Amino acid sequence: MKGTYTHLSMYSGSSASGHGGGKMSLGKSIKMYLTIFVLTTCIYMALYQYHLSREPFAASEVVKPPLYIITPTYRRPEQLAELTRLGYTLKHVANLLWLVIEDANATNPLVGHTLDRIGVPYEYMVAPMPEKYKQTKRAKPRGVSNRNRGLEYLRQHATEGVLYFADDDNTYDISIFEQMRYISKVAMWPVGLVTKTGVSSPIIKNGKLVGYYDGWIGGRKYPVDMAGFAVSVKFLKERPDAQMPFKPGYEEDGFLRSLAPLDSTEIEFLADECRDILTWHTQTKKNAPAQALNRTHYKDTNLEHIDQLLVRP
Ligand code: UGA
Ligand code: MN
Repeated sequence: MKGTYTHLSMYSGSSASGHGGGKMSLGKSIKMYLTIFVLTTCIYMALYQYHLSREPFAASEVVKPPLYIITPTYRRPEQLAELTRLGYTLKHVANLLWLVIEDANATNPLVGHTLDRIGVPYEYMVAPMPEKYKQTKRAKPRGVSNRNRGLEYLRQHATEGVLYFADDDNTYDISIFEQMRYISKVAMWPVGLVTKTGVSSPIIKNGKLVGYYDGWIGGRKYPVDMAGFAVSVKFLKERPDAQMPFKPGYEEDGFLRSLAPLDSTEIEFLADECRDILTWHTQTKKNAPAQALNRTHYKDTNLEHIDQLLVRP
């Protein structure tokens, strides 16, 4: 008690009050309790603010409709670099499932490790191109069996949200993902760097679709690039036969046609009503396969390990 008393009298300061030999005056103790009250209130307010700043944020992340990103990939020296670049783009996007589908008969552990390291939720599947298309000397339907496998997965596992075909070699501004998340049927937007034309885009006049701008129209109803459209999962599931044809140059058109009936007034135009470019059809220079490592010369060095990480065709 003595200690407390001493402490309190110290608290009351050196300008000791004239009242009752060291006891606090009523005014002083009111001041003290007020100070404690204000401090406690401040602490509670700060804690509440912290709580607010976290809780509703987390809740809004959860209620966002899911995005299903279907990415065809295939074995080649650039494969892990492409997947790493795309993966870290997707890592900025909430509530997303990345469907990575390889044109192969078996999965590759190197791809699996790369996806694990990136840390985006993913499913890694295989869907080989049918032999008859592999043999052809003409253009191949690249990534078609992969994308159809992705559609099959969605028909089995997805109920809501939006699907998007993101080739592993393209470039994406993450704002397009937040825009496509809320579409009701089909959405389209411009894609940069497609042929000499520079861009592939729906043509919009007075808020309405009046045509398509693309270097090659080729009699297509939907002359759009793979990177330039998204489809709602509910809408896809209302079209049980919708799929992508094994028809080089007509993959996008064939798939979009298979979503019929679809009126052009039902298509939503994103990226500031197609006045902005948020996706690019980029292409990586092809690299020759790495030569075999001289295992005798580099025995017991790190190169023995690194060599295991190289994707050779
Ligand atoms: C792209 C589209 O992917 C084609 O489907 C489309 O027909 C073409 O544009 C077009 O619009 O003309 P491109 O960029 O030239 O084709 O092709 P790639 O990037 O080589 O392949 C497309 C996707 O399929 C990539 O994600 C790639 O990893 C994958 N792919 C490619 C395979 O799964 N297997 C292959 O043998 C080649
Ligand atoms: Mn490409």
